[in-house]
Amino acid sequence: MTNLQTPQTTKWWKKSDVKKTFLLWLILTPIIGYVGTTVQLRSIGAPASEVMASVKTLMGVFTWAASPVAALVAALALTSLSGKRHYGDNPPAEADHQISNSPRVASTWVVVSTLLCLFALITGLVVLQKDNESILDATAMNVNVTGQQWVWNFDYVESNGVRSADLYLPVDKPVVFHVTSVDVKHSFWIVQMGIKMDANPGYVTETAVTPNKIGVFDIRCAELCGLLHAYMQTKVHVLSQADYDAWLTAKSTIEGAA
Ligand code: CUA
Repeated sequence: MTNLQTPQTTKWWKKSDVKKTFLLWLILTPIIGYVGTTVQLRSIGAPASEVMASVKTLMGVFTWAASPVAALVAALALTSLSGKRHYGDNPPAEADHQISNSPRVASTWVVVSTLLCLFALITGLVVLQKDNESILDATAMNVNVTGQQWVWNFDYVESNGVRSADLYLPVDKPVVFHVTSVDVKHSFWIVQMGIKMDANPGYVTETAVTPNKIGVFDIRCAELCGLLHAYMQTKVHVLSQADYDAWLTAKSTIEGAA
């Protein structure tokens, strides 16, 4: 049924609703982009690794790339809500299909969506590839991470059987984590370093990072794992190499004596 209506005198882009939507879109795009990035990036806090810095940048880029789309949806919703309404026995006039029948609008939308998806895919893969490189670093130290309801334990592979419940790491040294669980699924997450890896019983998964800031940061479980999931958290202490060596020596002496 090709019910092509007789051409109307006003072109679709000259209609007041379209103009209103366009104007709202122009106003809302920077607001959504700004609020989105500011709220996100403030709540995350300062990065403690290159990985987190690039994750943060990526989140900013994605938020700005998505803000015109979000703004368009919001603009259309606002225009519809504030537009003409029909009640009861007052039926709407025949729907206006000028926009939905426009091949130009349809093809523009397909092309824009495709470009946005490709952009997200490619930039995401580039960052992922960069982040995975530290797993291949031959100079990396190794830590075995074991999750259980509801604590983390860390075993330092190159040490003399040292185990701790808080994680200790030297600054600027790549570290590979070999993550597993003894009971249910957990997820090992160093918040300010931007790494997160599932801890599965019976399997060892790997992730890696190079801490680049001395300080104390958060480790959380990021997989619902039972009653005390929310309390399954600990700290990572990033120390200078000398302080780390001193900690390791002291710890192995204590445990050796025990
Ligand atoms: Cu372990 Cu949630």
